[in-house]
Amino acid sequence: MSLYGLPPAELGPTRDHLLAVEAAFTRPGQPSLMCDNLVTLSRIHSFAHDQAFVAALAAAARSEADYHNVWKIHTYCWAARSALALEGDFVECGVFEGLYSAAMTRYLDWGNAPKTLYLYDTFAGLDPAYSSPSERDINQYYALRPEWHGEVVARFAGYANVRVVKGVVPTALDSAPARIAFLHLDMNAAAAETAALDRLFPRIVPGGFVLMDDYGRFEQRELHAALKAWMTEAGYSVLELSTGQGMVVKR
Ligand SMILES: C[S@@+](CC[C@H](N)C(=O)[O-])C[C@H]1O[C@@H](n2cnc3c(N)ncnc32)[C@H](O)[C@@H]1O
Repeated sequence: MSLYGLPPAELGPTRDHLLAVEAAFTRPGQPSLMCDNLVTLSRIHSFAHDQAFVAALAAAARSEADYHNVWKIHTYCWAARSALALEGDFVECGVFEGLYSAAMTRYLDWGNAPKTLYLYDTFAGLDPAYSSPSERDINQYYALRPEWHGEVVARFAGYANVRVVKGVVPTALDSAPARIAFLHLDMNAAAAETAALDRLFPRIVPGGFVLMDDYGRFEQRELHAALKAWMTEAGYSVLELSTGQGMVVKR
């Protein structure tokens, strides 16, 4: 279980209550899932029975914490698989160590996909020109980590159709493809994500997917408001998912 957002003194007792709930459902054989502040009871979790997905996630995960994103990664892999049938390439803005993209490339046998995956990151955390002080404050972790660009390049070296691009979004997007079937935004910064939409949304093909990783996260309300306003102005409403993601399908 991964639980956050409460004062430390509240976390232990709340966790104990949730474990009791989990046990109550498990005893008569009903599934439950409690991770990344997402609690589901009596859901089938079909992705947990998809052997290819389970193997892809296991190969991509580097820590127990990576498994807490299982439902988000399922959504990401679903959108990517659906986008395979469309014209256009895939773009991810905000890669970090490549957890999502490593799971997806393995899940979809990416080496044989007739598409290119573009992975954009500063590999140094949020850029001051495209993030607010409060966003940088809650995402300090990325700035403190020694630069990890080389690790990600090595991770995807086996794929001729993956391009790891080091640079600040939006300026680095000069190398982005002309037609996009799947766009993933995960930079935890409103200015960067809306600037990416300014540049890339017009290039998304009809039926193409935009997946916004932190659209519905309470601690990212600034990002939520900016993305919602951008999409409203563009004439779209965002599907907010219980994972905290937001999704739009281009008309
Ligand atoms: C939440 S992490 C991405 C997680 C990733 N999707 C995964 O699979 O684990 C956010 C990333 O966005 C990057 N980032 C933030 N602002 C950026 C910007 N303006 N341009 C490029 N990368 C940025 C950070 O360096 C960080 O690696």
